[in-house]
Amino acid sequence: MDGGQSAQAQIIDGKAFAAGVRARVKTAVDTLKAEHGVTPGLAVVLVGEDPASQVYVRNKGKQTVEAGMQSFEYKMPADTSQETLLAKVEELNADPAVNGILVQLPLPPHMDDQAVITAIDPDKDVDGFHLVNVGRLATGSKDGLIPCTPLGCLLMLKDHFGGDLSGKKAIVVGRSNIVGKPMFNLLLQESCTVMVAHSRTADLPAECREADILVAAVGRPEMIQGDWIKPGAVVIDVGINRIEKPDGGTRLVGDVDFQAASQVAGAITPVPGGVGPMTIACLLRNTVTACCQQNGLPEPPM
Ligand code: GUN
Repeated sequence: MDGGQSAQAQIIDGKAFAAGVRARVKTAVDTLKAEHGVTPGLAVVLVGEDPASQVYVRNKGKQTVEAGMQSFEYKMPADTSQETLLAKVEELNADPAVNGILVQLPLPPHMDDQAVITAIDPDKDVDGFHLVNVGRLATGSKDGLIPCTPLGCLLMLKDHFGGDLSGKKAIVVGRSNIVGKPMFNLLLQESCTVMVAHSRTADLPAECREADILVAAVGRPEMIQGDWIKPGAVVIDVGINRIEKPDGGTRLVGDVDFQAASQVAGAITPVPGGVGPMTIACLLRNTVTACCQQNGLPEPPM
């Protein structure tokens, strides 16, 4: 090995980790059924025919059933009125068999995403996007539902560090409502010292180099370079970007230059096979959490 280069980073296997979460969710569901006669139910609503959304929704339905839960799927044409969608949400809010509601985003352009999210009962908002859940997370309330992708990142980080993140310096690159901001709140709650960086951050490489934990969620292919990483840091790559290869095909890459970063980091999530599989696993977990809260039952360990 040439001087200054560390060994290869540990690869955090998100696919295996997600399979473990799903297995624990299934055990929790079996317990709820056997001991309380309760079967958690997840409703997913898809408006329109976006191909990527159709794939997500199919996978969600399949994994919901595999976890022993009830899956309700509603497909509506792209020209559905917002009023009709809101009526469906109201119906699901009132249905006791439905513990979790997810309206697949993006919605068609004639709809107002925020108005639809606001219509969902916050206690059934398994995406954690409702303002009530945003507020619960920001204030450290225990009974909120946490957005699935940042929750998945946190579970992998806690596992890596043996449950204790306190005192770590963390940087979250990206300030989206879906990943960056909730990730900030989760890491803060774990007593990390957290910075949220974005497109206007001065000297981003230098800020990254300070961090023991780096979460990349900017949606810019391979933006974070190897020499931006602090040696031994743990790198969580939320990016999923499709880029063209020289031969004309395409491949998926993250927001981090994986080859270079894995020479420096202590541990790193790959793309694909890192954070991606954790999102649906955490959606299932949130559905069990919501079901327990709605029925006044203690949440089984997951
Ligand atoms: N579209 C892509 N990912 C998601 C997600 O996690 N939740 C919702 N509601 N829509 C999405």
